[in-house]
Amino acid sequence: MSESVEKFFESDLYVSEMLKVWEEGKEWAEWLDSLAKKTSSGRDVLDVPCGIGRISHSLSELGYNVVGVDISERLLEVAKARSPKVTFLKGDMRRLKDVIGDRKFDLVINIFNSLGYYSEEDDIEILKNLRDSSRKLVVINIDNRDFVIYNLPSVRHIYIPPYLVVDANEFDVSTSRLRVIRTYYLNGKEVDRFEFSQRLYSLHEIVRELKRLGLTVLNVYSGHSWKQFDVMDPQMTIVAKV
Ligand SMILES: C[S@@+](CC[C@H](N)C(=O)[O-])C[C@H]1O[C@@H](n2cnc3c(N)ncnc32)[C@H](O)[C@@H]1O
Repeated sequence: MSESVEKFFESDLYVSEMLKVWEEGKEWAEWLDSLAKKTSSGRDVLDVPCGIGRISHSLSELGYNVVGVDISERLLEVAKARSPKVTFLKGDMRRLKDVIGDRKFDLVINIFNSLGYYSEEDDIEILKNLRDSSRKLVVINIDNRDFVIYNLPSVRHIYIPPYLVVDANEFDVSTSRLRVIRTYYLNGKEVDRFEFSQRLYSLHEIVRELKRLGLTVLNVYSGHSWKQFDVMDPQMTIVAKV
C-alpha cells in the first residue's frame, strides 16, 4: 500500500466518509445475523478490517461477541469511543496471527471493498488469514471488477458535506488495478489530495483462490441482499465455509 493510502485511512476526511455510512453497518449486521441463523453459525465474530466499527457495533448490539481489527489508529479511536462492548485491536490483516494468535471465530468478515490495497500475494495471504481464523464461515464483500470497468467514469464528483470530493480514475487492464487521485475541495479551494491504487477482482478469481485454500463457496450475493450475484452487480458478497 502506498504511503498516501495509509495517510488517507488515518485522515479526518476518511473518518467523516466512514461516519456517513455508519447506518449501513446496521443493515450489514442484520443481514449477517440472518446468515448466521440460516447456517447455524455461532456468535463469535472477527471483523477485519473493522474501520470505525460500524458493523462490529451493530453485531454486538444483536448479542454477538465481536473482535474488530484494523491498521488505522485514528479509525480505532473512533470505534472504541462508539462501541465499548467490542474488543478493538490494532493489527495488520496480512499478519493477523500477530494480533489474534490461534484464536478462531464462527464468522470472519471482510467487508466493504477491503482487498486489493497491496500486492496480489498479500491478498492471498489475507485470504489465508481469514480462513485460518475461522471455524465456520468467511464472508467477503468487494466491488465487482466487471461492473467497475463498464460503469466507472474517468472523473467522479461526490458531495460529502462540507467537501466536494473529486476522483480521477484510471483503470489499468493489464494489472487490473484502479488508480484513483482523490481531491478534496472546501469552498472551491483544494484542501487535500490522496493517490492510491487498488487491485480489482472478478468473482472467478476470488472463487479460484478460496478453493485453492480449501474453502467451499456456499453462495454469492449482491451486496447485503439475498439476490444471487449477477455479473453486472456493483458488489459481490462471497459466503464460504471452512
Ligand atoms: C473500506 S474500509 C472498510 C472498513 C469496514 N469493514 C467497514 O465496512 O466499515 C477499509 C479499511 O481497511 C483498513 N486497512 C487497510 N489496510 C489494512 C491492513 N493491512 N490491516 C488491517 N486493516 C487495514 C483501513 O484502515 C480501513 O479501515
